[in-house]
Amino acid sequence: MNKKATAADKLRINIFDMVASIGRLIYLMNPVIGEHHLQVAYLAYRLGEELNLSNERKFDLFMAGALHDIGALSLNGRSDRLEFETNNPDEHAIAGSLILDQCKPFSNISRLIKFHHVPWKNGKGAFHKGECVSTENHLIHLADRVAVQISGETPILDQVQCIRREISIQEGVLFVPEHVDAFKHMAKREYVWLDVVSGSIETVLKRTVLFKEKELSNEEMADFSKLISRLIGFKSRFIAAHSRGVAAVAVELSRLSGFSKQERRLIEIAAYLHDLGKVAIPPQILEKQDKLSDHERSIMQSHVYHTYQVLEPFETLRIAGFWGTLHQERLNGTGYPFGLTSDDLPLGARIMAVADVFTALTENRPYRKGMDPDSAKAALQSMRNAGELDHYLVDIVFDHYDNMNAVRDAAQKEASADYHCFQENLHRCFNA
Ligand SMILES: [Fe+2]
Ligand SMILES: [Fe+2]
Ligand SMILES: [Fe+2]
Repeated sequence: MNKKATAADKLRINIFDMVASIGRLIYLMNPVIGEHHLQVAYLAYRLGEELNLSNERKFDLFMAGALHDIGALSLNGRSDRLEFETNNPDEHAIAGSLILDQCKPFSNISRLIKFHHVPWKNGKGAFHKGECVSTENHLIHLADRVAVQISGETPILDQVQCIRREISIQEGVLFVPEHVDAFKHMAKREYVWLDVVSGSIETVLKRTVLFKEKELSNEEMADFSKLISRLIGFKSRFIAAHSRGVAAVAVELSRLSGFSKQERRLIEIAAYLHDLGKVAIPPQILEKQDKLSDHERSIMQSHVYHTYQVLEPFETLRIAGFWGTLHQERLNGTGYPFGLTSDDLPLGARIMAVADVFTALTENRPYRKGMDPDSAKAALQSMRNAGELDHYLVDIVFDHYDNMNAVRDAAQKEASADYHCFQENLHRCFNA
């Protein structure tokens, strides 16, 4: 039965926070794309102003700019520079549109970036591959080509004339003439250029872009978590699958601990996001099979701080971000990064810690198989006795061990199926 969502089922989200949070994750995965996205978001928004577009369309341009090359993250290892922009550019644009299409809060942005490298060709570029190419795609294209010409080596205002000339040459060829006119007006505003290279463009955007809130349903929030999980999966399928396992166990533990439906949703989000900071850890440390050296361990431990950094702009998810960030804390004060003790660790954080340990012990890892029940129980018991994990929660795990393990396993298989399904869809789109 399709139940109608009630107000209590919805979370009020500031969309800017949501985009900023994804932007920070993208930056951690690939700083070049992260910085480029913010510049294009800003320039596209300003072009929208010059063209007197509605606030709604300007906001969409900001979002499209901030996410336009997201598909490049799926091009394993081929996105370190911005070469994907010129080398078969349809590939990353279509991949990006597919990624956003599957996340309801961003699905309207999908069609604004799908063809963001299609040249105007005196009007022929209004259509591509049998589809209509929207104005926004052409504006993103223009903003994108402006952004890639900006160099960090020379003072920005010395570069304006040259960028203006390069863009003008392509009027009618690559870009819509009306858009080039708008660009020329924009180019006269020195503050625009200074904003782009200010080094604090996220803050500038927050000040510039109009505030927009939206109520997101359970499904939409789940889509958002899955989007994050998918991005993490491009960097490491293992981390994405681990997080899905932790989420399933954490939801089960919170249900058995009496959490409300709303709290269970937040704990699920916290679990999906708890290890996202690992995308910043070099693969040789992340995937090392031997014991980590002290130096490597300290790098690995920084992942929690990165998780905190990504979630920090997200006001509505503050509590989920808080629980997620504390998953490595231990009740006896031996955890990290804050070394908190039982007095300061809420039940949500304790659940995250137990779900994380349980999943880590029982899941198959690239270099070892998951532990059998007796060994996993012994390891949990020893952490419980040492005062690291919550007694009450470990008891719940013991009482429901088989069910917990089955739930974890099913969620991780689903994560793997989801990954393959996405790759197949991508393949189908390219060959359409
Ligand atoms: Fe692109
Ligand atoms: Fe781009
Ligand atoms: Fe972790």
